[in-house]
Amino acid sequence: MHIVTLLGSPRRDGNTAHVLGWAEEAFRDAGHTVERITIIDHQIGPCVECLSCRKSSGRCAMHRDDANSVLERIGQADALVLASPVFCWGFPSHTKALLDRMYALVENYDINPEYTTRLANKPMGLILTCGGPEEGNAELVIRAFYAMVNFMKAVPRGHLLYPFFRRVEELTVVDRKRAIEFAARMTAAETSEVS
Ligand SMILES: Cc1cc2nc3c(=O)[nH]c(=O)nc-3n(C[C@H](O)[C@H](O)[C@H](O)COP(=O)(O)O)c2cc1C
Repeated sequence: MHIVTLLGSPRRDGNTAHVLGWAEEAFRDAGHTVERITIIDHQIGPCVECLSCRKSSGRCAMHRDDANSVLERIGQADALVLASPVFCWGFPSHTKALLDRMYALVENYDINPEYTTRLANKPMGLILTCGGPEEGNAELVIRAFYAMVNFMKAVPRGHLLYPFFRRVEELTVVDRKRAIEFAARMTAAETSEVS
C-alpha cells in the first residue's frame, strides 16, 4: 500500500510529528510505502468558493499555489492519514485551508448525484494531539474529520487522540504501542469500518 500522511502541525518536529513518526515507522515495517506531506511547507491559499471543481475534473481552478500538486499526491494514495494538533477547537488554519481545497478531489458533484471522489473506498485515519481533554475540545475536530471522510466516500479507519499532551519526553511505551496499533488498523484488509 502507498500511504500518504499529512502533517498538519506548523512544527515539523513537534508533538504531532513525533507520534506520526511512530505510525509511519509501523507502516514501513509492515512493507508499505509512506509519503509524508508537511502541509506548512506548501503554499496553500484559502478556497475562494468559485465552485469550478464541482463542474469539472477534480482539479482546483486556482493555479497560483501548491494545492493542485498536493492534491495530486493525495489522490495517488491507497490510504490517507491526517495528523494534526488541535488549535482553538479546530484544525490549524493552514491545515484547514488544505481540507477546504480537498473539495476539488470530488468529481462531478453538480452533475452526478452519485458523485465520485479520488479518496472513495480508501482508508482514512486521524491522529490528534492536544493540550486539553477530548470532551468539549478535541471532539469537534474528530466530528469534522468523520464528516469529511463520509463526504469523500472514504473508509473510516479510526482516530488516535493524545490528550493533555505536554512534552514529547513524557510519552511512554504505551503511547508508542497505540500508534503502532493504529497503523495496523489502518492497513488491515479485514478491518471493518471504525468511527
Ligand atoms: C494557537 C494554539 C491553539 C491551541 N488550541 C488548543 C485547543 O483548542 N485545545 C487543546 O486541547 N489544545 C490546544 N493547543 C495545544 C496544542 O494542540 C498541543 O500543544 C499540540 O500537541 C501541539 O502539537 P504540535 O507540537 O505538533 O504542533 C493549542 C496550541 C496553539 C499553539
